[in-house]
Amino acid sequence: MDKEISDKILKAVTVQDIEQIRVEILGKKGFITEKMKGLGALSPEERKLEGQKLNLLKTEIEEAISSKKQELELKAINEKLESEKVDITLPIRQRNVGRIHPVSQTMEEMISILGSFGFALAEGPDIEDDFHNFQALNIPESHPARQMQATFFIEGEEGVVLRTHTSPVQVRTMEKGELPIKIIAPGRVYRCDWDMTHTPLFHQIEGLVIDKKTNMGDLKGCLIEFVKKFFEMDEVPVRFRPSFFPFTEPSAEMDIGCSRENGEFKIEANKGWMEVLGCGMVHPNVLKNSGIDPEEYQGFAFGFGIDRFAMLKYGIPDLRDFFEGDIRWIKHYGFLPLDVPNVATGLSLNGGVK
Ligand code: PHE
Repeated sequence: MDKEISDKILKAVTVQDIEQIRVEILGKKGFITEKMKGLGALSPEERKLEGQKLNLLKTEIEEAISSKKQELELKAINEKLESEKVDITLPIRQRNVGRIHPVSQTMEEMISILGSFGFALAEGPDIEDDFHNFQALNIPESHPARQMQATFFIEGEEGVVLRTHTSPVQVRTMEKGELPIKIIAPGRVYRCDWDMTHTPLFHQIEGLVIDKKTNMGDLKGCLIEFVKKFFEMDEVPVRFRPSFFPFTEPSAEMDIGCSRENGEFKIEANKGWMEVLGCGMVHPNVLKNSGIDPEEYQGFAFGFGIDRFAMLKYGIPDLRDFFEGDIRWIKHYGFLPLDVPNVATGLSLNGGVK
């Protein structure tokens, strides 16, 4: 091949260049074709010789062009890929996307753990009737236990209240009559209270397990396992205190060991306790009131205070701040929206990272 031709091919920069060269050399009016035409004027021997040479040259040029073309095509694709590259690992611009409230975060975390324990999600209304909030739960009218929960009543509505706990969802679930039962019911609850650990609106997760043999040991095991997962600790200081709820027998409250020192609030043994939940074995009257035979079925129930768990896990000393709507507070204690807690990748990946 002529140096001139091979240089031309080598110097091609784009796929279009090489195509142009191909036409120039091999096309109908190209230089090879012209030469082929010229063969007619030669003697038969010369024609044969020249023809072979020409064919060889043609093949050589074709190969050179095609390999250059491939090279240029690859280059073009790589350039395109390079110029259109998107780095999907780049973090989003977090400043502009707000924060998840610690209560929402904690609720998600708790639900994801309890979900992994096999609990299904149930719901009930915030505005409840007296039957589900009290009577079915073994709290008859004028029973002193009603005073345990300072109730908000709906003005002008007889027997309608803002639910004082999530326990009415126990009744609503049992009424459906599908047994066995293993549910949790997260939601808002309301009581007329106001101090460092009480606010008129707060959050609970109710748990209910009903089958033929679930016992108090299962309840304790479930709760202890839960707190270890939730606080991501091998051991959590807990104690169960005998307690009273009209709807459970026996009843207990669970406390978590914690300290409040120098404005810091954290989990710690031997310093003090914070009550985080009420629990117990479902009272036979409650089973009866909900249409379940207490001779055949039994089970446990618990009611977590979500906000208290949030305070403990994220070291937030005063519950009232949760509901102040102070932007500085939410910036400090809030969570980044794209870190959805789950048991597989971690529950509080961004905890503390602001
Ligand atoms: N409902 C109770 C409360 O709000 C908590 C509780 C739930 C206790 C389930 C026992 C069983 O205080």
